[in-house]
Amino acid sequence: MKPCFPSLPQSTQSESPVRYWLVEYRQQSIDFTADQQRALARLLPLLICGEQSSQWVFHNEVQRQRDNNPLQQAVADFESIVADEQYHEEALEMIRLSLPEPDDITQIKRRSQRFFAALGLRQSFDVHFAQIACLDALVCRLMLAIEKGSLSSDHPFVLLCRAIKQDEAKHVTLSKRHALALGFEHSQWQSFKNSIADRLYTLLASERSAFETIGVELETIFDSKEGNQ
Ligand SMILES: [Fe+2]
Ligand SMILES: [Fe+2]
Repeated sequence: MKPCFPSLPQSTQSESPVRYWLVEYRQQSIDFTADQQRALARLLPLLICGEQSSQWVFHNEVQRQRDNNPLQQAVADFESIVADEQYHEEALEMIRLSLPEPDDITQIKRRSQRFFAALGLRQSFDVHFAQIACLDALVCRLMLAIEKGSLSSDHPFVLLCRAIKQDEAKHVTLSKRHALALGFEHSQWQSFKNSIADRLYTLLASERSAFETIGVELETIFDSKEGNQ
């Protein structure tokens, strides 16, 4: 499958728990029921597209910070986020490759590509990083919902989701701090967050039944969009 967004060469490492998940599970086959396989074959492309998109956002910001007004801590933080996202992509793609490919894979991929490409379009940098913070906070909620779903709590995919959630929580903090440093108005946060949640809900609801197969009710993720983060 062609990537949603071109891959970046891995230039940095990070201490992502997903890196250690890969060491443990790279050589193992992971068991799913046939229904779970069909569901994940539809859902993983959405997540993988997000991981690829995020790598580019942070990679470009590293270059921009280096060229313009070097916030050295931001450069180091963002290089490590790029590495985290690369581990996430690698792990999710490794699982996806073991699953049957849906007939409408091209449409699934296009839908997610459009969603992520539209996020950065015609946005100022502060708004773009606020979007990323909101999005990653929702990914944390999604990962938590999968953990609480129908797969057992020690299933390797659940362990992967837990590891991704840990990284995404860190990304939320760093992206939000960066958005505010770039001038994002804190008072806009809540309404902004709700509008990103509505857009992501529309994308994920296109795969509602696949989510239900793995025990995830989308409403549980989006109902509490008023929550903190
Ligand atoms: Fe990620
Ligand atoms: Fe992230």
